[in-house]
Amino acid sequence: MYSKIIGTGSYLPEKVYTNHDLEKIVDTSDEWIRARTGITQRHIADESQVASDLALHASKNAMEAAGVGSKDIDLIIVATTTPDMVFPSTACILQQKLGVDNCPAFDVQAVCSGFVYALATADMFVTSGKCRNAIVVGAEIYSKIIDWNDRSTCVLFGDGAGAVVLSQSEQPGILSSHLHANGNYSNVLSVPGNIGGGKVQGTPYISMEGNTVFKFAVKVLEEVVHEAVAENDLQTTDIDWLIPHQANIRIIKSTAKKLGIPMDKVVVAVDKHGNTSAASIPLALDMAVRDGRIHSDQLVLLEGVGGGFTWGAVLLRW
Ligand code: ACO
Repeated sequence: MYSKIIGTGSYLPEKVYTNHDLEKIVDTSDEWIRARTGITQRHIADESQVASDLALHASKNAMEAAGVGSKDIDLIIVATTTPDMVFPSTACILQQKLGVDNCPAFDVQAVCSGFVYALATADMFVTSGKCRNAIVVGAEIYSKIIDWNDRSTCVLFGDGAGAVVLSQSEQPGILSSHLHANGNYSNVLSVPGNIGGGKVQGTPYISMEGNTVFKFAVKVLEEVVHEAVAENDLQTTDIDWLIPHQANIRIIKSTAKKLGIPMDKVVVAVDKHGNTSAASIPLALDMAVRDGRIHSDQLVLLEGVGGGFTWGAVLLRW
């Protein structure tokens, strides 16, 4: 038994902040942001929206594309770093909003690798026969954990959600998943604050050593892609579409170059979305499926890296 993605969906909040909008908030410039990151704009959620609202739109979209209804769903996994609340999980809140009855529902916290972790987890449920149709979502509202006075981080992130329906299949879909983590780097990229004693303890905003993240990301993304293709007796040149985590165009280009994959085989959304963390891969995937770039039988590789550090890849036959 295999698992296969049978529908994709996404949602981006209506409000858009361009680089020029950010020039009015912090000491930055459109030129600096484009040159260092490739980002031109990002979507920002309304103050009333929570991650499950974004996840709901993306999930409905994916279910419609897959032709499945709420009665068909028997697993919900939400990858998020910006959950609606401490508990219950965003997945349980999404379950209620989708009107899905009695199925396992839980969140995965692996920051920007979250969607890859969630998809790998859902694959194990589906291929073991424990579930037939899983909703796997990446949903984030990073605008809530950005210090809007810190130009070194506030220009990088955006909000959004992407979702897939992963179902049992007799034809190969997911070929292999590869997950890694190294907690020795937990201080390099974090939101170190927490809730205790009725208030926020510590800093509730993103803290990041940008250069360390950059170098680590390029190194491990190259390694994990080689690991995925080697396990399947393939070469990087066999990959039809590379769908990387969308953090920075320079990380994406450096990784593709090291892998010998031309940029016309790489799906890029960071220019329009910014870094949407766990949502970035399913948002880019949905874009490339809907605009017709990804077709049946193509080899697609999803790869991501994020705080933890965590990193991973999923190789699949579309
Ligand atoms: N506008 C203008 N100037 C800025 C800005 C800004 N928004 N931010 C920083 N600068 C300044 C700095 O103060 C510094 O000035 P100085 O030379 O006078 O000290 C100068 O620009 C260069 O700063 P660096 O940090 O060295 O710039 P760098 O080329 O490393 O780019 C960046 C910074 C874009 C953050 C880069 O390191 C990066 O992309 N790192 C990866 C981080 C990342 O993607 N994080 C996302 C989360 S993790 C993930 O998703 C994988």
